Amino acid sequence: MASSLLFQPLLLPNGTTLHNRIARAAMDSALADANHAPGSRQIRLYQRWAEGGAGLIITGSVMIQRHALSSPGSALLDSDRYLPQFARWAGVCRSRGAQVWMQLGHPGRQMLAGMGGCACAPSAIPLQLPETGMEFAAPRAMTEAEISEVIAGFARSALLAERAGFDGVQIDAGHGHLLSQFLSPLSNRRNDQWGGCLTNRARLLLDCVKAVREQARPGFGVSVKLNCSDFIAGGFDSQEAAQVINMLNPLGLDLLEITGGTYASPAMFGQPADHTALPPEAYFLPHAQALLAAAQMPLQLTGGIRSRAGAETALVQGVAMVGLATALAQQPDLPRRWQAGESLQPDNATTADGAPPSAVAMLMQTTERLGQMAAGRQPRSAVSPQLAMLSSQIRLRNLSSRYRQWLARQDTSGTH
Ligand SMILES: Cc1cc2nc3c(=O)[nH]c(=O)nc-3n(C[C@H](O)[C@H](O)[C@H](O)COP(=O)(O)O)c2cc1C
Repeated sequence: MASSLLFQPLLLPNGTTLHNRIARAAMDSALADANHAPGSRQIRLYQRWAEGGAGLIITGSVMIQRHALSSPGSALLDSDRYLPQFARWAGVCRSRGAQVWMQLGHPGRQMLAGMGGCACAPSAIPLQLPETGMEFAAPRAMTEAEISEVIAGFARSALLAERAGFDGVQIDAGHGHLLSQFLSPLSNRRNDQWGGCLTNRARLLLDCVKAVREQARPGFGVSVKLNCSDFIAGGFDSQEAAQVINMLNPLGLDLLEITGGTYASPAMFGQPADHTALPPEAYFLPHAQALLAAAQMPLQLTGGIRSRAGAETALVQGVAMVGLATALAQQPDLPRRWQAGESLQPDNATTADGAPPSAVAMLMQTTERLGQMAAGRQPRSAVSPQLAMLSSQIRLRNLSSRYRQWLARQDTSGTH
């Protein structure tokens, strides 16, 4: 391919430049240490991506509140206690010229029951997905004070990320996590200023963005990850996504990442529950084309991108960046190899009989690969989804027990 759009720099609204158009999309590796800070294995993992050549590394979701973790192995940044470890993490990610943005998140009701934390959500509506084998904690509805604490939490974590040397943050409002739960009329049944019409359902996201942007230094990147649709009847849909983008336009975002789906409808893994036909690569490109008209900030498209041609096609359609997650868990140096002219394309995951594995099995399979990379090995191409499910269930049980004990120590020591 002669002149490649993929390797052209991107000037962001904040005046900084990304050296190419490939982002490593957020992947929580669940490899934080016993204090929920980035430990040596996690840092070694990110070194692979730094060397791999992406222009932007978006970290796996880092939690803003210690009682609300996406997974019992997630990193948490709610105080400056372990800031030197976060600074080391940022330094490794930036070592080859990429920018590194910390994704900040809150799981809301998407928290495993066995973790023993406190699940808070817009409304007390539990997430029930027995077919996935995952049991989620029953949530209670957040109070006004708890909602204010979430806004303050995003702002506090963003400030700490900036102090640790991250180039920016991404606010996670996709995939059915807390801010996405507020956006959806199915999970948000509030009748106060945080629920009902879209203006109310989007209020928490907008307040979080404003709080982060207001205190960030000029040049610090602020991004949001937003569903183009939840792909579920009665959920947040593409028309509402366009309206939320209009609301985000005046808030000074540097990048808006478009994704889609939730645990209940895993469109982000190409398996929407409402059976919407998605393209085999770049699942959300048709949706992004409609959203491009609304967006005044650059868009990043993530989901199902595995080939250089697929990535280029998205850019030609007007998307500014492409995000890759699972492909970079199989081939961490894919950007560098594409730039060198190789047309490498990691395979889609399949089961022994050649069928695509379930979304949960794909998630576990990728997590297994991240563990291999963190241990300094090559990610194995033939990770059986069934075996990955089994080993990850054992691992999650052990990590949940470690988290419960850690949480009890924090609570008795009076640390907030
Ligand atoms: C193991 C794993 C962990 C993930 N963790 C996160 C996360 O922390 N935050 C997030 O927004 N998305 C997360 N995702 C979703 C990815 O960012 C991405 O949206 C999805 O995998 C689709 O992109 P892909 O086809 O390139 O993998 C995760 C995906 C995987 C496989």
